[in-house]
Amino acid sequence: MSNIDLQALIPNNVNLGENRQLQRALEHWQPAFLNWWDEMGPSDFKAKEVYLRTAVGVDASGWASYGYTPMPDYRWGIFLADQQANRKIGFGDHMGEDVWQEVPGEYRSSFRRLIVTQGDTEPASVEQQRMLGHTAPSLYDLRNLFQVNVEEGRHLWAMVYLLHAHFGRDGREEAEELLMRHSGDADKPRILGTFNEPMDNWLSFFMFTYFTDRDGKFQLKSFAESAFDPLARTTRFMLTEEAHHMFVGETGIGRVIRRTLEVMKELDTQDVATLRNAGVIDLPTVQKFMNFWFTSSLDLFGSESSSNAASYFANGIKGRPDESKFADHLELDSEINIQVPDGKGGMTSENIATRIGMNEITRLEYVKDCNIGLVRWNMGIKRAGVAFEFVLPSTRFRRSVGVWSGAHTNPQGHPISAAEFEAKKDDWLPTAADTAFVKSLMHRVTEPGKMAGWIAPPERGINANPVQYEYVVL
Ligand SMILES: [Fe+2]
Ligand SMILES: [Fe+2]
Repeated sequence: MSNIDLQALIPNNVNLGENRQLQRALEHWQPAFLNWWDEMGPSDFKAKEVYLRTAVGVDASGWASYGYTPMPDYRWGIFLADQQANRKIGFGDHMGEDVWQEVPGEYRSSFRRLIVTQGDTEPASVEQQRMLGHTAPSLYDLRNLFQVNVEEGRHLWAMVYLLHAHFGRDGREEAEELLMRHSGDADKPRILGTFNEPMDNWLSFFMFTYFTDRDGKFQLKSFAESAFDPLARTTRFMLTEEAHHMFVGETGIGRVIRRTLEVMKELDTQDVATLRNAGVIDLPTVQKFMNFWFTSSLDLFGSESSSNAASYFANGIKGRPDESKFADHLELDSEINIQVPDGKGGMTSENIATRIGMNEITRLEYVKDCNIGLVRWNMGIKRAGVAFEFVLPSTRFRRSVGVWSGAHTNPQGHPISAAEFEAKKDDWLPTAADTAFVKSLMHRVTEPGKMAGWIAPPERGINANPVQYEYVVL
């Protein structure tokens, strides 16, 4: 197993101490990162002790330690999953060759662009979530928010390490830029749309961690297959941390639904106004938030038909999630079928080369994974005897990227006119009034174990501690 240096200024398992130049460059970037955290990270709470897990190694049996720490003292480190001996490239035109420890010159700009784009999402989400601490529905949730935030900070470190270690001066400049762009900034926004969306309520936070962090999971899974071994190793370890972010989303949405069902039963009503007056979020509103964040996250996979995606696959840069599950790792002359607008307000299907369709293949795997939560939530609703079912919209609905961008469809994905979309969109997507209502419920609860009225308590606490544990010392 790799050596772990926890005492170093930058904890790491990449023998940073043996590469003085790289170590100095990263130690130079570190104060800029801390300054960014101070200015753009969670607003206030800086001196507060938070019960956090910290990555301290990559051993599956004990990779994290738990304890109280003020967030600015979090030990952001560089941890790569252990190197696999004799690892071979598992797909594309270099299939079967040894993986690369350095980036081949001809693929340098592609790798750099992908690493920067991934790296950009990590601090972006911290910026989006910076005000949420003030309205946390419990100390348990406040702690989970901060856990997600510090780990997104560590994911930024993971990408910055690659930029510094493998991309020379260009990489160092990109690392600086990652701290200069800001979510929602008019002049220097973050690279991808979803990461510039405002996030001013906890329902959006749970949707984001369920749907958008799950996009992250699939991007990381694709990179985990990469022929560039340091990228594969670092993303493999990031996936370990990412799992908790999606857990926060899934259980968060589940608890919102559970609480609404309780009040529906108590008051024996499905009436939206009555439920809102009682201080819970009605299920149709939850569905609208789901529609918004799910469709926004679908765009992150890129266009259905993409020559960039084809060359990433051909060149071994980015594989499919769980590449080994697929039968053919070359996809030289295979095709897939996709739906496209027919240019006359309707829809037609088209065959494209599988390599060209890699984004769509990954997106459909993602959709399957998203549905797992819906099945679970719907079971709870059915058990409560309520006639309501959550459904994910079609991948053609409300797209801003790809072949369906700008086309109008209903949530089932059937093309409709712009006028019909306008007339119905308030039934499908959160209105200003819906968001204002959700925001009106957002009041902080600070007594250990207590929950805001719109959300049920979690089934268990963190790291075998009780729910009423003092997860943040305010
Ligand atoms: Fe992340
Ligand atoms: Fe995440």
